Amino acid sequence: MDFNEFKNQVHKSFGLDLNSYKENQLQRRLSNLLVRKKLSDFGQLFTVISRDRQEYVKFLDYLTINVTEFFRDVKMFNILEERVLPELLAKGRKLKIWSAACSIGAEPYSVAIILDQLTPGVTHHIDATDLDQTILQKAKEGIYTADAVKNVSSERLKKYFTVRGDKYIINQQIKDKVDFSQHDLLKDNYPRGYDLILCRNVTIYFTREAQEKVNRRFVGSLNPGGYLFIGGSETIFNYVELGLNKTSPCFYKKVAHA
Ligand SMILES: C[S@@+](CC[C@H](N)C(=O)[O-])C[C@H]1O[C@@H](n2cnc3c(N)ncnc32)[C@H](O)[C@@H]1O
Repeated sequence: MDFNEFKNQVHKSFGLDLNSYKENQLQRRLSNLLVRKKLSDFGQLFTVISRDRQEYVKFLDYLTINVTEFFRDVKMFNILEERVLPELLAKGRKLKIWSAACSIGAEPYSVAIILDQLTPGVTHHIDATDLDQTILQKAKEGIYTADAVKNVSSERLKKYFTVRGDKYIINQQIKDKVDFSQHDLLKDNYPRGYDLILCRNVTIYFTREAQEKVNRRFVGSLNPGGYLFIGGSETIFNYVELGLNKTSPCFYKKVAHA
C-alpha cells in the first residue's frame, strides 16, 4: 500500500482526514514511524492500527504533535490579558471562550487563570477541545512538568498550583472552570457564540485549503466583535475577506457586521 492509499484507507476506516495535513511533513513523520515500528510499508501500518484500537490511539498520539506550555508566547498572552480580555469584559457579561486543539490543557488553564484574576468569583464558559482523547485525559488530570510552567510567575505558581515532587498540579478551582471534549477541526461541527477563540500552533500542520476552511468556520463561531487568537508562526492571509480586522500580531477581531 502506498502513502496515498494509506491516507484514503485511514479516512474511510477512521474518518481521519490526513489529506488536509501538509504532505511532506506528514510523510516524513509517518516514514519515521515505520522505521521505529520495524514495519516494511504503509500497508502493514494500516493492518496494525486497524487490528488494535490501542495501536490506533498510539498512532494518533505520534501524529499529533502535542508540544505546549502555559502562557505560550508571553508577549501575546500579555496582549490578551491587558487589551483583549478587558475589552471583551467591558461588555459587562460572562464570556464564552473556546481553546481549540488545546493539547494537555496548558492553554485553556492559562486563560482561566487570567480571568480568575481579572474577574474574581465570576464563572465564565471555557470550552477546550482536541482531536486526541489521550491528550484530553492528561488535560483533565492537569499535572505538568517544570518546563510547561516556566512562564508562570512565582505568584501564580503559588496561588494556582500544588507542587508534588517535580510536578506541578493545577488547582481544582481552575480545573473546574474548563470543559474538555473531543473535537476534530477537520470533520466536526463548529459550536457558535464565542467571544474569544484560541487556535494556536495546529493549523501550521494543515494544507492551505484546510487552513482557509478552518478559519472561515471559526469566523462563523465568533460573535461580532469577538477575537480569534492564533499562533506566532501562523497567518491568516485572507482576513479582510473573512470579515476580520488584524488588531495586533496573532489577534483578529470579527467586524461587527460580518
Ligand atoms: C502543538 S499542539 C498546540 C497546543 C496549544 N494550542 C498551544 O499552542 O500550545 C497541537 C494540537 O493539535 C491537535 N490536533 C491535531 N490535529 C487536530 C485536528 N484535526 N483537530 C483538533 N485538534 C487537532 C493535536 O492533538 C495537538 O494537541
